[in-house]
Parts: sequence; C-alpha cells; structure tokens
Amino acid sequence: MFAKMGMKTLHVILLIFLSLFGAFCYSLPLSTRGRWIVDSETGSRVKLTCLNWAAHIDTMVTEGLHTQPIKDIVAKVTLMGFNCIRLTYATFMWTRPDYGNKTVAQSLDSMNLTQAREGIARNNPQLLNLSLQDAYEAVVDAIGANGLMLVLDNHVSKPMWCCASEDGNGFFGDMFFDPKEWIEGLTQVASRFKGKPQVVAMSMRNELRGPRQNLPDWYTNMTEGAKAIHSTNPDVLVLVSGLNFDLDLSFLNTTPFGLTLDNKVVYEAHWYSFDFTQQWQTQPLNRVCGQCADEFQREAAFLITGDNAAPLILSEFGVDVRGVNQDDNRYFNCLLPTVADKDLDWALWTLQGSYYYREGKAGPEEVYSVLDYNWDKPRDPKYLERLTILQQTIQDPNSIALSYYVLVHPESGFCVNVEGQDNVHGSSCRERSKWSHSGDGSPIQLVGSELCLKAVGDGVPVALSTDCKSPWATWKLVSDSMLHIAAMDEQGNSLCLESTSSNYSSILTRSCACLNNETNCDPQSQWFRLVPSNLS
Ligand SMILES: *[C@@H]1O[C@H](CO)[C@@H](O)[C@H](O)[C@H]1NC(C)=O
Ligand SMILES: *[C@@H]1O[C@H](CO)[C@@H](O)[C@H](O)[C@H]1NC(C)=O
Ligand SMILES: *[C@@H]1O[C@H](CO)[C@@H](O)[C@H](O)[C@H]1NC(C)=O
Ligand SMILES: *[C@@H]1O[C@H](CO)[C@@H](O)[C@H](O)[C@H]1NC(C)=O
Ligand SMILES: *[C@@H]1O[C@H](CO)[C@@H](O)[C@H](O)[C@H]1NC(C)=O
Ligand SMILES: *[C@@H]1O[C@H](CO)[C@@H](O)[C@H](O)[C@H]1NC(C)=O
Repeated sequence: MFAKMGMKTLHVILLIFLSLFGAFCYSLPLSTRGRWIVDSETGSRVKLTCLNWAAHIDTMVTEGLHTQPIKDIVAKVTLMGFNCIRLTYATFMWTRPDYGNKTVAQSLDSMNLTQAREGIARNNPQLLNLSLQDAYEAVVDAIGANGLMLVLDNHVSKPMWCCASEDGNGFFGDMFFDPKEWIEGLTQVASRFKGKPQVVAMSMRNELRGPRQNLPDWYTNMTEGAKAIHSTNPDVLVLVSGLNFDLDLSFLNTTPFGLTLDNKVVYEAHWYSFDFTQQWQTQPLNRVCGQCADEFQREAAFLITGDNAAPLILSEFGVDVRGVNQDDNRYFNCLLPTVADKDLDWALWTLQGSYYYREGKAGPEEVYSVLDYNWDKPRDPKYLERLTILQQTIQDPNSIALSYYVLVHPESGFCVNVEGQDNVHGSSCRERSKWSHSGDGSPIQLVGSELCLKAVGDGVPVALSTDCKSPWATWKLVSDSMLHIAAMDEQGNSLCLESTSSNYSSILTRSCACLNNETNCDPQSQWFRLVPSNLS
C-alpha cells in the first residue's frame, strides 16, 4: 500500500502516526550542550514540554487512576501537546518497607478512601494489588509506552501535600529529611529505572525551603546527591534545584555548582504568581511584569547565558485555569512571553484535576489542572491554545536556518500571521509567519517579502505595506514591561499593536495604554513579544 504513495504522503502519514502515538522522533538518552538539552546522538534540540503529575501525596498512589484507564489518561496528555511527564514521588516509598511495600488497595483502605479504591478496581484493576513501588513502575511504563518522556521528581520525604516552610520536608536535617535516607532514595530510583529510556531525567528535590536552609549544606548535599544518581544511572539528566521554594539559584552566579557529570546537569526553577513581592493588581502592571521578569532572570534564568551556560527547566508554573484569579491571569500574560523568548524547557502545574486525598480532605479538586475534575476533558481549551507557542521547539542549536522572529500575543496565545497577499491576522502559533526586525526604529518586515507592518490609525487594523521607512512603519519597544510595540501614525500619535477578546483574529493599533505608571490601567491586550526563532 505504501509503495504507491509519494515520499511526501508517507511523511505526512508518519507525522500523523507520530503525533497520534507519540513514538520518539529522537534518540535517547539526552545530554546537555551549552544551554540546550539535546539528543545525545545528533546534538539536535529535544525540548521538554512536561505536565506535572502527582504521586507523592499521603496515599503515594499516582493521582486519578480511579477515573480512567491509565492509557486513556496518558493518551490525553499526548493529544494536549505535551511530550513529557514530571512524575513526583516521596522518598519513604523507596526507603521504608512499611510505606513502599503496601499495596495500592492497602494504602487507600488505610485512609478509608473507599471510592478511590473502587474506582481503581473498575478502571485500573491491574494496579490494585500491586505494591506502591510496583504500581509506580507500572505508571512509568504506561507513560513510556505512549512515547512520553519522564522526569522523576523527588517531591518530599514523608508523603504529604507540599510545601510549607516547616513541614519537616523542607531542608536537609528537617524532621523527615535525613540526608542519608535521601541519598538512599535517589539511588533506589536511579537503579530501579535504569535501562528505561523514557526516564530521561531525575530531579533531586522539590522546593528546598525553611529555616534550616543554608548554602554550605546545599553545596555538599546536592553534590553528593548528583553523584549518587549519576554513578548509579549515568544516562539520566540530573536536575539541580535551588533554595527558597526553588526560586533562588542566584548564588551559582558567584560559586558555580562545579559538576557537569558528562553533560547531564540541568537546573530547575519555579515561578508562580505569588512568588515575588510585586503586587499584580495594586501596582502598575507594566512595571510589575518588567520587575518580575528581571527577578526571574537574576534568580534563575541567568544560568542559560555566559561561558558556563546550562539548561534551565521551569519545572513548575501555572494558574487557576478557571480564570477567576486576577493575579494569576496577569502573571501568565507576563510569564508566557518571557519563557517563549528564552525558549526554556518546562513542566506545567498540572495534570491532576483532583486528589484522592489532600490536606485532610478526600477528593478535593485541583483548579490549576489542564483536565476537569473527572479527568475527562480539558478544563479550558483556550488555555491549551495559549500553551501552543511554548509547546513548539522555537530554537535549535543545530539549525542552519537564518534566525527570524515570531510575533506572539500572550493574552490570546496567537501569533501574528499573514495569509495570502496582505491579510494580517492573529491565529494559532502552529503556523508562524516569520518576521525580521533589527531593533528600535526599524521596520517589522515579513521575511522573504518587501512587506512591512504599518500603523494606519487608532482602532484601525494594522496593514502590510511596501512602505518600510516611514514613522508609521518603524517600531520600537515601549513601557516598563517591554511588551508594547509602538509606531507613529500619520498624525504623529504613538500607536501600539493591540488585539482584544472581542476578536483576537484582528490585529489593530491603538493609542498606547498605561505607559505612565497608572495603577488602574490594564495594558494586557497590547502586550506582544517578538520571539526569536531559527527553525526552517
Ligand atoms: C519490599 O518487599 C520486597 C519483597 O517482598 C523486598 O525485596 C523489598 O526489599 C521490600 N522493599 C523495601 C523498601 O523494603
Ligand atoms: C477510618 O475509619 C475507621 C472506622 O470508621 C476509623 O476508626 C479511622 O480513624 C479512619 N481512618 C482515617 C485515616 O480516617
Ligand atoms: C486483589 O486482592 C483481593 C484480596 O486478595 C482480591 O479479592 C481481589 O480480587 C484482587 N483484585 C484484583 C483486581 O486482582
Ligand atoms: C548535609 O546537610 C546536613 C544538614 O542536615 C549537614 O550536616 C551535612 O554536613 C551536609 N552534607 C553532607 C555531605 O551530608
Ligand atoms: C475578526 O477579525 C478578522 C481579521 O480582521 C476578520 O476577518 C473577521 O471578520 C472578524 N470577525 C468578526 C466576528 O468580526
Ligand atoms: C515609573 O516608575 C518607575 C519607578 O518608580 C520610574 O523609574 C519610571 O521612570 C516611571 N515611568 C514613568 C513613565 O513615569
């Protein structure tokens, strides 16, 4: 049947096959190459676009197995465009027989979680009588069987909801956090999953925190942990996390970690709306966004630059997907262009729409989840649309193509694209028109054409024009967020690109908003970012 088809058709079929069944289109294991995570064999970029999936809470059972057969859950992850899972675990499951050797049924029964147990008996009966350790491995295998990669994340020592400063799981020497037991846990996991290529990385510890934090103990223990993982399983990437809930890696600027483990060291950081001191609603939003982006740069993202550049994975970020948290909404419009611009690897919080048990409650909902409470459908398809640009590989160190820009509008998640001769519109970032721009005061030109973006008037759609020189076709970044892109119209007014929820397909210019530190002013519909890319 294939013999009669052209190569192109075959290629398309193969692509459809790969995207449906998610088979690896790169070879594992992975390594680092400067700031990039790459396929060891060819040196091509492999971008980790992961979803978190919790398995570290009191029951130690991977969440959601009471709702759907595991292969259906994993298939949804692939369909939603992610290529990897950050699967959490608690150290005690690997180091203490009275934890890890309980069966799934025993663990749920001991907490009276009858409905969860019955749900697993219905949807995943093969897992019910496995030990917690074996069930975790079965989940890893099911994820791998669908072509997804995994980061195994040591989230806590004692299984429980994470993270409070003084919950006994925060730092080396805390009540439940014995450094020797931690090394033992990392070693067990490294050894157990050795030879499973889908396990591409192990992260050392989630969100170190609390009054005991100090740098000398961080350096000695993290060095020992990294060596323990690497000597047991030299294939996996080792994710090194910082202090203060994994916000702070700034100390590496003066005293580098010092290990490279044959190009396996990757750093990880988190960034949520509540992490920095800025107030998203009561301070000028352009300034808050600019300052938060700077802070993220100083505390973590500097690691991808300079002579010792290494990869950084943003291993937790996310929002209340119901859209009701205004801090989250604003933060996300600021984070998205920042992360796209740096083309970081990442893991979104989170997959699970509910928990068997969390903080004293049976069956609570997780509103930061991509899936709904029943793990059935996406909670909000528009949220997934906005992740599209981040799910793409934007830069590849192996590409020989000339670099260009993609013009991204975070509020819609759309890219500014051109269709036909002169139709400029916002549409999915799966198609991405290529733009060139050489800095403030230069045009934004459609690559391979004579056409440039041109401001026509206040409230009027932006045009494509062969005029690439006049003030209304030359653009500069304005405002403290550096997310406004402004030109002049023929009357000399400063106009910014804009796209509003009334029609995100429409790209206009309008009088630039909130440039003067106003507090009751919302500039988000005017936030755009020219994101550098070099893929052909
Ligand atoms: C759990 O039990 C198995 C055999 O029943 C044993 O080999 C293993 O060491 C035990 N695990 C732990 C963490 O004690
Ligand atoms: C489970 O239920 C039993 C009997 O009702 C009760 O004694 C026990 O405290 C419950 N355990 C938990 C963890 O809620
Ligand atoms: C699990 O074990 C229990 C008790 O040993 C048994 O009754 C039940 O049928 C088993 N369930 C499955 C799905 O294997
Ligand atoms: C690890 O941290 C502990 C603090 O609990 C400290 O006593 C110890 O010296 C550190 N280093 C190593 C290698 O254990
Ligand atoms: C939205 O904008 C696009 C592009 O300008 C236009 O083609 C379309 O008709 C508009 N849709 C509506 C409903 O106004
Ligand atoms: C906004 O406030 C910042 C910090 O106070 C200041 O540096 C900046 O000049 C102000 N911008 C405008 C346009 O007033």
